[in-house]
Amino acid sequence: MAVPVRVLGIGAYVPERTLTNHDLEKMVDTTDEWIVSRTGIKERHVAADGEATSDLAYRAACQVMERTGVSADQIDFIVVATVTADMQFPSVACLLQDRLGAHRAGAVDVAAGCTGFLYAFHLARSLVASGVQKRVLVVAAECLSRMLDWTDRSTCVLLGDGAGAMILEAAPDGVEGVLSSHLGSDGGLWDLLYFPGGGSRNPTSHQTVDQGLHFFKMNGQATFKQACGVMERACQQALEEAGVSLDQIDLVVPHQANLRILNQLSERMGIPAGKMAVTIDRYGNTSAASVPMALNDYYQEGHLKPGDLVLIVSFGAGLTWGAAVFRWS
Ligand code: ACO
Repeated sequence: MAVPVRVLGIGAYVPERTLTNHDLEKMVDTTDEWIVSRTGIKERHVAADGEATSDLAYRAACQVMERTGVSADQIDFIVVATVTADMQFPSVACLLQDRLGAHRAGAVDVAAGCTGFLYAFHLARSLVASGVQKRVLVVAAECLSRMLDWTDRSTCVLLGDGAGAMILEAAPDGVEGVLSSHLGSDGGLWDLLYFPGGGSRNPTSHQTVDQGLHFFKMNGQATFKQACGVMERACQQALEEAGVSLDQIDLVVPHQANLRILNQLSERMGIPAGKMAVTIDRYGNTSAASVPMALNDYYQEGHLKPGDLVLIVSFGAGLTWGAAVFRWS
């Protein structure tokens, strides 16, 4: 018998420094009009000098722990979703574990691009549902600004930095709070989004730096074409596994990659405007962090009440995708 799992709370952190489209107009050959009309992004936040992914993760984790009253020694496990770790190893999760003083917790990072939060959520849910762990801290944190070629207008205008955090635990009242979580991948599409340098295939050298292999690479149009289809199918599967219809969902929180993708998804699925979280205008694409950051904003703005059903969905590098349905508690 699976242990019922509940989502205990949400937190987030956004770096203070903002970079507007008008700032970018001074850096590359672009315009506010192009960026807004093609992506919906107006500004993004960028980590301060010396601020790294684990610093963002720590701030988001502190917020969810403060809100939920969970102390560091009550955390059994930490999963951090990121593709922009402070260093190749150790994991951001280990750095976070130390900084929080979560001395009982195991800690691991997962890399699933923009779907990272869904993967971390699914792993946390599985750990709790299996009875192996009681309480898991899930964090998604990214400093994509450090991976960008700031002379390449086709990528540097899209991304931003930030972090979100959630706690999942064994439901004390025995009521199931996580109705479903569904993941998928197609590694055949790995070259739609990737970061070639610094790994075992292209270890860092003067040559890899000269070739710009230390920058984020993306086939934007091909990614766009995949995005709606995989998110729609993931949503349908998550709804089916949860045994609920879209009408019963109170809030859909999709990955924030492009407003046109969000509009297409809502049209294809028939999601009413007020039911879909949209925060891309203020943060850009924050990769794995975008879903928990958007959820946090909608929570703070009073859009969520206990018992509400939330559908989260994402797609990203890999190619990966995932969706989940849970009850807000
Ligand atoms: N400013 C002005 N012009 C630009 C810019 C810019 N910032 N960027 C590209 N252009 C130009 C191009 O050079 C091209 O010019 P040309 O017609 O003279 O050749 C023109 O605009 C059209 O370029 P497209 O690439 O066709 O533009 P498109 O409408 O496809 O939008 C975009 C590009 C925004 C990248 C879109 O394809 C997209 O959002 N794709 C999905 C990206 C995504 O979802 N990424 C996911 C995850 S990221 C992660 O995993 C971390």
